[in-house]
Amino acid sequence: MYSRIAGTGSFLPPNRVSNQELASRLAEQGVETSDEWIVSRTGIQSRYFADPDVTSSQLGAQAAEAAMHAAGVTAQEIDLIICATSTPDMVFPSTACLIQQRIGAKGCPAFDVQAVCSGFVYAMTVADAMIRSGAARHALVIGAEVFSRLLDFNDRTTCVLFGDGAGAVVLQASSAPGIVATRLHADGHQSGILCAPGAVSGGQVIGDPVLKMDGPAVFKAAVTVLEQVANEVLHAAGRDASCLDWLIPHQANLRIMQSMGRKLHLPDDKIIVTVHEHGNTSAASVPLALDVAVRDGRIQRGDTVLLEGVGGGFTWGAVLVDY
Ligand code: UT7
Repeated sequence: MYSRIAGTGSFLPPNRVSNQELASRLAEQGVETSDEWIVSRTGIQSRYFADPDVTSSQLGAQAAEAAMHAAGVTAQEIDLIICATSTPDMVFPSTACLIQQRIGAKGCPAFDVQAVCSGFVYAMTVADAMIRSGAARHALVIGAEVFSRLLDFNDRTTCVLFGDGAGAVVLQASSAPGIVATRLHADGHQSGILCAPGAVSGGQVIGDPVLKMDGPAVFKAAVTVLEQVANEVLHAAGRDASCLDWLIPHQANLRIMQSMGRKLHLPDDKIIVTVHEHGNTSAASVPLALDVAVRDGRIQRGDTVLLEGVGGGFTWGAVLVDY
């Protein structure tokens, strides 16, 4: 038994904010940045911000509906829901349970996975294992974030990088792959390089739960581990990089993505890039990019796609898919 991607979906909140607009807003509060800096260092040109009353479960449910529609599967047929998010609607219940309620699915297990920007590849790996074990036949795997809620708009080194959105896939049990191989890793010793170090205690916020990132340290770690895990997952599948039709790395920085392409000997036009439009949407970035490339016809049935995540934890992982 294997799992295969039966359908993809995504959803972005309507409020698109260009670098120029963000730079002028930040200038009003004395924070200096520019379109030129953001584009040249990251490739980002715009991002989407959800309105204050919009939650991850709302974005996630919209993406899930689109994925179910594409897969031709109803909410009643869904027997597993996993949502990757670091910006849940509330402490509990999980965002996955709230999505279950919103889409009208009933009775199936639903839970969140918290692996920050690696969340979607973690969630895909868990869903794949559950389908292969026979525990589920139609899994909804969602990455949904309102990452703007974690940003400190006085910190120009981070607030220009992130955005909100959601992406989803329906994974279906299948006699042929599908998902060919998966690999996950974490190094908690590097938890401090990317974190939102706060919590709730006795009804009070304790610590400082806004995003903090040592950008250069994360950059360096990302290029190293993304290459390692790409080779591991290809090795596990008994293949090499020449099998790849498409690379979908976590959408954080165009320079990291292009460096991955060079290491895998893939030309730039084989890398699916949405970071210029969406910014870094954390766990939503990979399924958003996947859905864009499926819907615009670049990714076709039979193509081999490498999905890669990397982020806070420190976490990283890869999923190799015959789409
Ligand atoms: O989602 C998880 C994965 N995340 C990532 O993969 C992010 C990885 N890191 C990065 O993408 C890059 O490190 C950044 C884009 C975050 C930063 O780029 P960098 O080339 O590493 O810049 P830097 O942090 O070394 O900063 C260079 C300069 C500094 O000025 P000085 O000290 O050289 O005078 C910063 O203060 O750029 C300055 N700077 C800015 N200037 C204008 C930092 N942010 C800004 C800004 N606008 N927004």
